[in-house]
Amino acid sequence: MEDKLSQTISWKPLHKHDNDIGANWNMINDHIRNGFYNTLLKQCKDKVVIDVGFGTGILSMIALKHGAKIIHAYEMDKETYLLGKHIIKRLGLKSKIILKDKMFVKEFNDLPDAIIIHEIVGRNIWNEGLTCLNNVSDPRKVIPSVFHAKLFAMEKREVEVDFKSFHPDTMVFDPGIDLGKYNNVIQELLDDHKTSRIEKFQHYYEFPYIQRPEGYGGHGDYEEVGSYTYDINTQKIPENIIVDLDIYGKDIVIWPQYYMDDYKLNSPSWKADKGCLCNDLQQGSKFIQNTGSGKWWIKCP
Ligand SMILES: C[S@@+](CC[C@H](N)C(=O)[O-])C[C@H]1O[C@@H](n2cnc3c(N)ncnc32)[C@H](O)[C@@H]1O
Repeated sequence: MEDKLSQTISWKPLHKHDNDIGANWNMINDHIRNGFYNTLLKQCKDKVVIDVGFGTGILSMIALKHGAKIIHAYEMDKETYLLGKHIIKRLGLKSKIILKDKMFVKEFNDLPDAIIIHEIVGRNIWNEGLTCLNNVSDPRKVIPSVFHAKLFAMEKREVEVDFKSFHPDTMVFDPGIDLGKYNNVIQELLDDHKTSRIEKFQHYYEFPYIQRPEGYGGHGDYEEVGSYTYDINTQKIPENIIVDLDIYGKDIVIWPQYYMDDYKLNSPSWKADKGCLCNDLQQGSKFIQNTGSGKWWIKCP
């Protein structure tokens, strides 16, 4: 562990095939993620809904299935917006879903009675611009709203860096929810997309010290050494979240595990965040995370 800059920029994910953030096929095929939203979005019944970050529109489809009156959707990525337009047209839903190619911020208040739904939650919670939904003077409910991190620590172990090859399989669209014709339209898009995914074959790097309570194989014991919880509906999110670490010593690896509304952010939709190796972690050290970028670092006293 050296200075803040080296901690925040030295680790770089090489998941280049995941540039298609709004239309990530593993994400929209993730039964557990979709099941979480299928339960959460029951709150959309008879409501005007704002869908922030339309992507392929799966959240809007779930909201409509649960009886939403109308959806006002926003998609700020131009290509993803065009994809969204195509999907809405193919489904004949132009009168139910109004899609704008704009970045939504909670200061837009032309729909005072709407409920706001989203999945602009990155692998470290904050790196997809989530704070644009944090305006506590606006009473409109944002769901999901509670964001929680547990900080884990373990002693460094000698482990091999695991390089793997990425061989995309033929993808079958199976969101775990029956969304009618939407499923066929997405399958057509997936078939078209596979060719370009194969062209983008990449190696990727998995940080060796990350250990999850389930999965990823174990590299030894670990313990929780800090946490934070924020509700974006009721609390102003600080520019930097600061957590006291309940650990010190030599060669300690620190890493976070994130949750939204008690749902654990996990693969395939969310890849592991980095871990930070602290050669000499002093008593009174802090975990600091910037909520604009999600980048975090350890500060010794
Ligand atoms: C992780 S994807 C989720 C897509 C879709 N809602 C889903 O759950 O499958 C997030 C999408 O939100 C878009 N986005 C993020 N912040 C936004 C904002 N403030 N306004 C409009 N679009 C946004 C991104 O371009 C991306 O397409």
